[in-house]
Amino acid sequence: MSSRHKAMPNDLRAFWMPFTANRQFKQAPRMFVGASDMHYVTADGRKVLDGTAGLWCCNAGHCRPKITKAIQDQAAELDYAPAFQMGHPAAFEAANRLIDIAPAGMDHVFFTNSGSESVETALKMAIAYHRARGEGARTRLIGRERGYHGVNFGGISVGGIVTNRKMFGTLLGGVDHLPHTHLPEQNAYTRGEPEHGANLADELERIVTLHDASTIAAVIVEPVAGSTGVLIPPKGYLQKLCAICDKHGILLIFDEVNTGFGRLGTPFAADYFGVTPDIITTAKGVTNGVIPMGAVFVKGMIHDAFMNGPEHVIEFFHGYTYSANPIASAACIGTLDTYRDEGLLTRGAELAPYWEDALHSLRGEPHVKDIRNIGLIGAIELEPIAGQPTKRAFSAFIKAYERGALIRTTGDIIALSPPLIITKGQINELIDHIREVLRMID
Ligand SMILES: Cc1ncc(COP(=O)(O)O)c(C=O)c1O
Repeated sequence: MSSRHKAMPNDLRAFWMPFTANRQFKQAPRMFVGASDMHYVTADGRKVLDGTAGLWCCNAGHCRPKITKAIQDQAAELDYAPAFQMGHPAAFEAANRLIDIAPAGMDHVFFTNSGSESVETALKMAIAYHRARGEGARTRLIGRERGYHGVNFGGISVGGIVTNRKMFGTLLGGVDHLPHTHLPEQNAYTRGEPEHGANLADELERIVTLHDASTIAAVIVEPVAGSTGVLIPPKGYLQKLCAICDKHGILLIFDEVNTGFGRLGTPFAADYFGVTPDIITTAKGVTNGVIPMGAVFVKGMIHDAFMNGPEHVIEFFHGYTYSANPIASAACIGTLDTYRDEGLLTRGAELAPYWEDALHSLRGEPHVKDIRNIGLIGAIELEPIAGQPTKRAFSAFIKAYERGALIRTTGDIIALSPPLIITKGQINELIDHIREVLRMID
């Protein structure tokens, strides 16, 4: 028998964990073995309050009955159907249900399996759309510093996180970046959208002047940048960006993998800011994180530009074996039922003022240098330990976990995005854990 067959059930060697300090983890593993509503259960039987909706995805909380049942029923009835040239009813129902809650004008949905795939799909769609209309020179893509668009080559190319880019050699050519909008000197401790920085959208005009609009396919931004520590757009910034894109015939892509499905107290961030882009990328909350799935929403004009040529010929040479997988589609429908029945796509708006006050009560606690919030998103930025960036926030993460709260850290920023079912009492509990942790750590 090979050594791998002799491995103990919890032998940790084989699994190379994603975005994890593998050696640290394997010395002191943190294992979840169960979950229900707002809590995880650890291997040693402790309850941990979920301050991050898993990874910004379990918007309805954990192990929700309608989602579980939808998955069980679908698995017993139709497990898989070929995704190309064949269909099954749940895929069409899921797409229609998504369109029902999407911003007006978003008429079609293309299914993927993750946020990264949604981003690649949107970028390819944008370039192919211009080509289909006879503007094949529009191939440039514009992202933004400190943007996160997943980990595939297109996504890291338009993304603006140096650690995610520098290991991987030559990225996509023909990519440029807008400056990020994080201005702590002017905007620290802002509640909601900051006052300063809308003018940073004008940088797009500079990039257009440099390259000429006729070479630019799309601009992609997260309406609220999540992974680099909750960077909230300055008042008027997204509106300006949209106007400049429209003026130059450039498609605007909102990456709503984090902000989609109620996170800001509206179904999508596009609704919150009153800006409708041309394409919206989503994943995570589309199935409450339970089954991998992503969905790319597009305006009718984009879809329709592909619908020409002989009818027996494939219009868009793109798709995945698991696009609209039956079980993922069922999970999506069960998730949308749960969001609808519990009013979760707007519940964040009711809770946001309470959430904001609770977060800002941490002002003045040790190490805190900024607090920011929007919808049910919050960030507490810490002063880094000199010469040891990320260490202080990582200690906070470990201590919070030991005390019974799951938080997420990025750099020296604590980023919070709890399930949308959180109660006011649980908000207090979460913030109290963080207060205690800040007082404990070096
Ligand atoms: C804005 C954004 N885009 C894309 C992704 C990538 O999603 P996935 O990890 O499902 O590939 C994420 C993940 O956090 C994200 O926040």
